[in-house]
Amino acid sequence: MKILVVGSGGREHALAWKIAQSPRIQTVYVAPGNGGTALDQRLENINITDPAELADFVVREHVALTVVGPETPLAAGIVNIFRDRGLKIFGPTREAAQLESSKDFAKSFMQRHHIPTAEYQTFSDVDAAHQYIDQKGAPIVIKADGLAAGKGVVVAMTLEEAHGAVDMMLSDNRLGDAGARVVIEEFLAGEEASFIVMVDGKNILPLATSQDHKRLKDDDQGPNTGGMGAYSPAPIVTPALHARVMREIITPTVQGMAKDGIPFSGFLYAGLMIDDKGNPKTLEFNCRMGDPETQPIMARLKTDLLTVMEHAVSGTLDTIELEWDRRTALGVVMAAAGYPDAPRKDDLISGIPAETADTVTFHAGTTLNGERLTTSGGRVLCVVGLGDSVKVAQKQAYSVIDSIHFSGAQFRRDIGWRALKKHA
Ligand code: AMP
Ligand code: GLY
Repeated sequence: MKILVVGSGGREHALAWKIAQSPRIQTVYVAPGNGGTALDQRLENINITDPAELADFVVREHVALTVVGPETPLAAGIVNIFRDRGLKIFGPTREAAQLESSKDFAKSFMQRHHIPTAEYQTFSDVDAAHQYIDQKGAPIVIKADGLAAGKGVVVAMTLEEAHGAVDMMLSDNRLGDAGARVVIEEFLAGEEASFIVMVDGKNILPLATSQDHKRLKDDDQGPNTGGMGAYSPAPIVTPALHARVMREIITPTVQGMAKDGIPFSGFLYAGLMIDDKGNPKTLEFNCRMGDPETQPIMARLKTDLLTVMEHAVSGTLDTIELEWDRRTALGVVMAAAGYPDAPRKDDLISGIPAETADTVTFHAGTTLNGERLTTSGGRVLCVVGLGDSVKVAQKQAYSVIDSIHFSGAQFRRDIGWRALKKHA
């Protein structure tokens, strides 16, 4: 069987790697893929990104099913295009993807369906936005309504920062259309967790829990990034909290979307803030898997992902259960010099060891030119270690990191610190 994975990051490498482990797989195509998917014998990169051309390719090559990694093609309607042509694809339609592509859509949806989230208001008028900030005070959070590649959220600790963020988005139009409307919301304190499920329009299949590390530097210092590392499971999500998140957030979201006439299918990712009393609120929805959360999650998945995907596109996710490696998986991102503002390209990468039972390296911003593997993006690699404890998983991951070299590599030394602190 042939499968197509759309995307080029570490998330897509991990999804393709896992699907390719199915005994029924002939080829997993990755569009456009990266240096790591080029190196893997079972995967084949195809240099197409236009959704209609991808649909042509799928018809021509008899690809059985397509899985979409990133939000951009989903928000652009790749699922609508494929479905109109009768092609099987796992992901939300353009309309359902608004849960991620419009913060205002997501917030008003949550309010309408009584899903716990921060109090907010939406503005396109600059003066009204400034007034609201003065009325509410700092800390306060300013979010561009549209997709802004990780640059759309300003957690303002002072009034000055908050007013600056409004000016940047609404007056100076620095984020273009994405920032033409802003959501201003209450600051929530607590610990974050990533709660990701698969949805087939109606049925919900939760994946293992995980926790991301958004800041560039150790001790959660430095600028926000797409994510510098993640581990699974996340001990903050106890079985009781898991049940509560399903009951108060995930189930009402899936039922609410169906009730509103835009049923959701695809990966649904709720970014949670859990306060010191253990109450969860939704910070955001993503209509896709997380990156780097996918890498440790896929490293732990034992069930055949091809079979799971077949159920997902057939609306039968209620008939299966997932089996997980009981170990912790911990992924550390190696990013390029200059990331996140101005990542440098074309640095030569060396020393990536072969996969073992305890370690695997997923590629993101890498390109293979003949024998030469070079950096070609912000986040370059995600090294995953597995172990019976967070500490052992961490040790496994860093032992691989220490063998890999490229000039200017940036990575954190403390991925997993919150779980380690809980344990201690
Ligand atoms: P988002 O893309 O909405 O998840 O925002 C990116 C990051 O900003 C989150 O992962 C949080 O670290 C932070 N953040 C977003 N909303 C809030 C909030 N209401 N209170 C505190 N931090 C937030
Ligand atoms: N790692 C956070 C995200 O994928 O949105």
